[in-house]
Amino acid sequence: SNRTFTMIKPDATADGHTGAIIKLIEEAGFRIVALKKTLLTQHRAGEFYAVHAERPFYKDLCAYMSSGPIVPMILEKENAVADFRKLIGATNPANAEEGTIRKLFAKSMEANAIHGSDSDENAAIESNFFFATTEQY
Ligand code: GTP
Ligand code: MG
Repeated sequence: SNRTFTMIKPDATADGHTGAIIKLIEEAGFRIVALKKTLLTQHRAGEFYAVHAERPFYKDLCAYMSSGPIVPMILEKENAVADFRKLIGATNPANAEEGTIRKLFAKSMEANAIHGSDSDENAAIESNFFFATTEQY
C-alpha cells in the first residue's frame, strides 16, 4: 500500500513541536491525506494499543497517551509504512539515528514524540480508528 498512519504524541504537542514535525513529514515527500487534533480517553488509548495489553508498560502507556492532545494523520507516499518508520527512527530515542523525528524530539522510550504503523494492515485499521472513510482524501 502507499499509505500509513501516524500520530504526534502528547509530549510533542505540549512542547509546541507539531508544526516542525509536520514540516519534516512533508519535506520527506509524504502527502497529508487526513489530519486532526484530538484527545484520547484512557479507555480509547487502551483500545488503540490493545496489542500491548499484556506488556508491563501498558497502563503507563495508556495514561501517557491520554495525558494531552494528539495529532493523528493519514499519510501517502510510495512504500509509506517502511519509509515512515525510517523517518521517525527507533522506539528508544537513545538508539534513534541522527536527523530522525524521534532523535530530534523524543524525550524517552515512552514519551517518544510520534507513532508510525508497523504494517499495511495496521495502517488501515489505525486510520479507520480515527477517520471516517469520507475524511480520507
Ligand atoms: P509506536 O509507533 O508508537 O507503535 O512505537 P513502536 O512501534 O516503535 O514501539 P512499540 O509498538 O513496541 O511500542 C508502542 C509504544 O509503547 C512506544 O512507542 C512507546 O511509547 C511505548 N513503549 C514501548 N516500549 C516501552 C517500554 O519498555 N517502556 C515504556 N514505558 N513504554 C514503552
Ligand atoms: Mg508499534
